[in-house]
Amino acid sequence: MILLDGKKTSIEIKEEIKKTVSAIKLKGERVPHLAAVLVGNDGASLTYVGNKVRSCEYVGFKSTLIKLENNISEIDLLKQIQILNSDNTLDGYIVQLPLPKHIDEQKVLLAIDSKKDVDGFHPENFGRMSLELDAFVPATPYGIIKLLERYKIPTDGKHCLVVGRSNIVGRPISILMSQKRISGNATVTLAHSRTKNLKKLTKQADIIIMALGIPEFLTSDMVKDDVCVIDVGITRVVDKNNPKGYVIKGDVDFKEVSKKAGYITPVPGGIGPMTIAMLLQNTLQARQWNLS
Ligand code: GUN
Repeated sequence: MILLDGKKTSIEIKEEIKKTVSAIKLKGERVPHLAAVLVGNDGASLTYVGNKVRSCEYVGFKSTLIKLENNISEIDLLKQIQILNSDNTLDGYIVQLPLPKHIDEQKVLLAIDSKKDVDGFHPENFGRMSLELDAFVPATPYGIIKLLERYKIPTDGKHCLVVGRSNIVGRPISILMSQKRISGNATVTLAHSRTKNLKKLTKQADIIIMALGIPEFLTSDMVKDDVCVIDVGITRVVDKNNPKGYVIKGDVDFKEVSKKAGYITPVPGGIGPMTIAMLLQNTLQARQWNLS
């Protein structure tokens, strides 16, 4: 079994970005600038956004964190989006999801200038990505593709099963894996909550991408020998023995599935850190595209 070390790979990517930023600084040019909008005090979102901001500082980007009250009105949030859209010092920004229930998420995502949409959630970017045009690819699917690429995992003609059809992970990765590209050319099946006899599919698959959000859902009896397993799940599960009061669990029963798998990502230390590295990559790309 080969462990697909997302932590190590993300550090390599961040080092490459850091070098590019140093070269930008040396030329006396403006470094990339990423802003993150965080609405409310959700614990997991605070952690994710904190990690994103710290990573920006590590590679030498400028970063701005905009913290807004949980009860901010949709209109006021949309005004904030317009301010960010017209800020010429900003290359890209993200609005951390989920948003409070009284705010229409789609309306907010549609308001983001697609040229600054480094999360790749705007329909223009999603459409361009689907058509294999230049686009910001959402960071988590992008991280999966890059990890497969760096470990030279064969994907050509393989059966790739994606479990979960979210707009952020399942649907975009199913499109990317089917495209004519490195870490693509796979025959893709997209399974979801209404899929019948999922075990029949998981047992056939050469590559399984789990993006369901149900802790330890994929068990060893569901997979074939030498399967490649990518675990996108990150669920906080209450654990009184842990000082934090919770532990992070993936969608895969890692202990057992890793005994059968050819390749597998751990949680934590797999796709999570790759997501952050690819957000930085998109921000660097935004700066380059917006300059040209
Ligand atoms: N919430 C969970 N994942 C993401 C992500 O990749 N971007 C944003 N903006 N919010 C998220």
